[in-house]
Amino acid sequence: MTILVTGGAGFIGANFVIDWLQAYDEPIVNLDKLTYAGNLGNLAALQNDERHTFIQGDIGDQPLIERLLSEHKPRAIISFAAESHVDRSIHGPEDFIQTNIVGTFRLLDVVRGHWSDLPLNQKSNFRFLHVSTDEVYGSLGPDEPAFTESHQYQPNSPYSASKASSDHLVRAYHHTYGLPVLITNCSNNYGPFQFPEKLIPLVIHNALARKPLPIYGDGQQVRDWLYVSDHCSAIRTVLARGTPGEVYNVGGFNEKANIEVVRTLCDMLNELHPAEPISSIASHHELITYVKDRPGHDRRYAIDATKIEAELGWYPAETFETGIRKTVEWYLDNQTWVEQVISGDYRRWIERQYVEVIAVRR
Ligand code: NAD
Ligand code: TYD
Repeated sequence: MTILVTGGAGFIGANFVIDWLQAYDEPIVNLDKLTYAGNLGNLAALQNDERHTFIQGDIGDQPLIERLLSEHKPRAIISFAAESHVDRSIHGPEDFIQTNIVGTFRLLDVVRGHWSDLPLNQKSNFRFLHVSTDEVYGSLGPDEPAFTESHQYQPNSPYSASKASSDHLVRAYHHTYGLPVLITNCSNNYGPFQFPEKLIPLVIHNALARKPLPIYGDGQQVRDWLYVSDHCSAIRTVLARGTPGEVYNVGGFNEKANIEVVRTLCDMLNELHPAEPISSIASHHELITYVKDRPGHDRRYAIDATKIEAELGWYPAETFETGIRKTVEWYLDNQTWVEQVISGDYRRWIERQYVEVIAVRR
């Protein structure tokens, strides 16, 4: 038996592939386009592992997908491939429409054709698991209850709108054609191999370089944070025991305001990586810099993960405190990885997005 993973060279996908092969012997075919966000360096630990086959390609390339399905006959597909950064979607939505909507549609359609020709027993055991986000539900007020699976879809950014569209397509392929799909909507992830454009790795990276730590707006926006290996275990659980056609919300039971997250990171860096005596900063907190808000910035996301807990017995293993410590330690120990993924494209992005705040403190 084999599974096919898409987007397995990105942050969550790479963690998923590594964790899977630690837990099971079942091989993985890993299809990834290797955009700026995909790095083979994330999979270096699997270099000599014959259970892992890497293919560079696009989820929208239907002849390629057809070939992979008929050659490897996967029993399941877990689809992580997406454009994933909200700020980039604001500057340029086109890639988000192409990959998240058109790409998911093309992938789904080839998979449907392949699945409909399978023998009956393989057909009913087959799964297509679509990895999605809590951002499709829109923004909550401070006292509103957390998102359940039946919360209305109200996406506010080009990113979340493109993910919402893909969720709808996946749902429709179940309803119309009977494709055995599963959808997971997860909150903000953090942990090893996250590209340093997202809040937590960006703050760690900037703090180590004594650069400003940019806080959008008033920093009171709330996110629910989940350590990435817990998201991976949730996906394994849903794949093994989830009911086809169902949606499962995944969250960390960790609602935090952005400024609180950044202050925690500063405390941890003060402890694990104190500023050198020659530096003009005594504490990383001095680097915190409020900057112009993100347009249309969602105020609060919160996940009600009762369904996956009650029906499938999943619960996160890490608290925010244990997960954030592991994350900071990982970035301190893996500075070479960070240097490798910071390409010319990354530098151009930072200059464009943080035009007002690129100063470096000595
Ligand atoms: P990421 O940006 O780190 O990785 C995405 C990967 O997909 C990259 O390796 C990239 O090369 C690949 N990819 C992009 N376009 C492709 C295409 N057309 N064909 C094949 N591969 C392509 O993203 P991530 O943070 O690992 O997120 C993975 C998935 O999880 C996404 O679907 C995202 O929407 C979802 N998600 C992310 C979070 C989060 O906090 N990061 C939370 C909930 C859900
Ligand atoms: P991000 O990591 O981009 O995830 P998402 O937008 O998908 O939730 O951002 C997390 C939160 O941090 C979000 O509210 C935006 C905020 N943020 C900043 O305040 N400064 C930054 O430089 C970045 C990248 C994000």
